[in-house]
Amino acid sequence: MGSGIALTAAMNGIEVCQNDIAEEQLERARAYHAKTLARAVKKERLTESDAEVVASRIRYSTSLADCASAQWVVEAATENLRLKKEIFSSLASTCGDDVILASNTSSISITDIGASVGDAAPRVIGMHFFNPVPVMKLVEVIEGLVTSEETTSRTFALAEAMGKTPIKANDRAGFVSNRVLMPMINEAFYAWMDGVAEPESIDEIMKLGCAFPMGPLRLADFIGLDVCHHIMMVLYEELGDQKYFPCPKLRQLVLAGRHGDKTGRGVYDYSTS
Ligand code: 3HC
Repeated sequence: MGSGIALTAAMNGIEVCQNDIAEEQLERARAYHAKTLARAVKKERLTESDAEVVASRIRYSTSLADCASAQWVVEAATENLRLKKEIFSSLASTCGDDVILASNTSSISITDIGASVGDAAPRVIGMHFFNPVPVMKLVEVIEGLVTSEETTSRTFALAEAMGKTPIKANDRAGFVSNRVLMPMINEAFYAWMDGVAEPESIDEIMKLGCAFPMGPLRLADFIGLDVCHHIMMVLYEELGDQKYFPCPKLRQLVLAGRHGDKTGRGVYDYSTS
């Protein structure tokens, strides 16, 4: 997600520093940026020199201290509240006091993240992008309890400057997108587990019958089964209703390390593609 957000910003004229703790992840980001820009050139949407300018707007860093000069931060680390709090606390002490601290969290409370930054909490906001970021039009914008109006209006302006449509949702588990999407994906796992149909048929039925670009099980692999499982647990824990409990079939694949596209295997096998 971070790589997609960085590229989308750079394609819209914004200078970016993409930060990660692992050099290996930054290498993957570089490769993704190069591949996506080369495709845009091939499709004649960008000239080669435009693509070079876009690429030159992105620098890569493994030091969080390099964010100190940023005017804006969008955090897209692993969905782990403790980790996010550590990152936000560090950003709040190193970044300027007019810097917006946004999180691309898919389900963690923005109010909770904001509680880790003291006086900076009014500048903390949710900026939830969708995968693949360069393609998907939406940014779901989530205010925490004390997010300021100025932070929200600047966030709307930034999302629009990145070519996206911002829409506000309240700070409840899963916001709107994952409150609706994840139970549907979870139900597709139940349909598979209960023998209603095999994964290929479940996906084709939803693609051809409901005009989904991807069936729900294929989409789960694309998002990451670990991410889907985590979001279901957040929904279950906050809303307390058994209907949000992750399907055992989903849980089993996660426990087996089959997390979807990123591990080469999830519902489907991608090891040869
Ligand atoms: N990065 C950049 N561009 C990409 C891309 C990527 N990772 N993947 C695909 N694209 C572009 C392609 O370059 C192509 O552009 P072009 O037509 O202008 O050349 C266009 O998208 C279509 O790609 P393809 O022809 O390769 O394949 P498809 O037509 O099958 O589309 C898809 C691929 C866009 C991924 C489509 O299947 C889709 O929309 N799937 C659903 C995605 C979705 O629902 N995302 C939301 C997930 S939920 C989420 O992210 C929230 C989180 O909190 C869980």
